Amino acid sequence: MGNPGSSPSVPRHVAIIMDGNGRWAKQHHLPRLSGHEAGRKSVKQVVQAAIDHGVKYLTLYAFSVENWQRPREEVQGLMGLLRGVIREELSEMGKEGIRLRTIGRRQDLPSAVREELEAAIEKTKNNTRLDLILALSYGSRVEITEAVQSIAREVKDGGLDPEKINEKTVSAHLYTHDIPDPDLLIRTSGEMRVSNFLLWQISYAEIHVTPVLWPDFGKKEFSEALADFARRERRFGGL
Ligand code: IPE
Ligand code: IPE
Ligand code: MG
Repeated sequence: MGNPGSSPSVPRHVAIIMDGNGRWAKQHHLPRLSGHEAGRKSVKQVVQAAIDHGVKYLTLYAFSVENWQRPREEVQGLMGLLRGVIREELSEMGKEGIRLRTIGRRQDLPSAVREELEAAIEKTKNNTRLDLILALSYGSRVEITEAVQSIAREVKDGGLDPEKINEKTVSAHLYTHDIPDPDLLIRTSGEMRVSNFLLWQISYAEIHVTPVLWPDFGKKEFSEALADFARRERRFGGL
């Protein structure tokens, strides 16, 4: 789904590349996993801040398809952390009206994590205050590749005329088919790259990069990013 050409001052959809947990841990002479654990309170603060500001969709890049290449210990630690967070935050999500969703290759996740997630997704599916979308085993190129495969299948099966394929067709085959494009993309820890995140969907997103490491990012930093967004003039190619 694309966004209309207006420029409301509060972004409807904020997407965040939560980066810098490892560097934070190093700064504090702690193991990398402690950095990921410390990032948990940032997630809580940012979710609350998003609700307070009236943001409707918040997408958090929590684990990329490339992150499977990390040492086994770190991957297992992250998966355990994820499972714990989902379990422990479920009742809070209910109270706050949060609808939990995921994008990415859910089939890659360990079954214990997947079951925890699927139960939480089911339990929160009627909540309407904030859609909290976790990008898990997510990669934009694999997402686009899977979309191409599924479009090709529809053509082959005779249902779809290749001449009728347009941008809407592509969008409709992505994991994000029913989620509006992000208006604001935040990346913490200063890296000026997108790391295979929502490549199609961020075509016209405003980008805010902060040097703050993810575990140090909280409500104040989120509000600053929103204030930065409100000062931008979005043109979408027009004048
Ligand atoms: C981001 O922090 C969290 C994940 C990618 C899971 P990093 O673990 O990438 O932290 P740095 O980049 O090493 O500091
Ligand atoms: C991007 O961070 C992925 C997540 C935040 C989950 P990375 O730390 O994996 O990205 P690179 O390696 O710096 O590009
Ligand atoms: Mg990183």
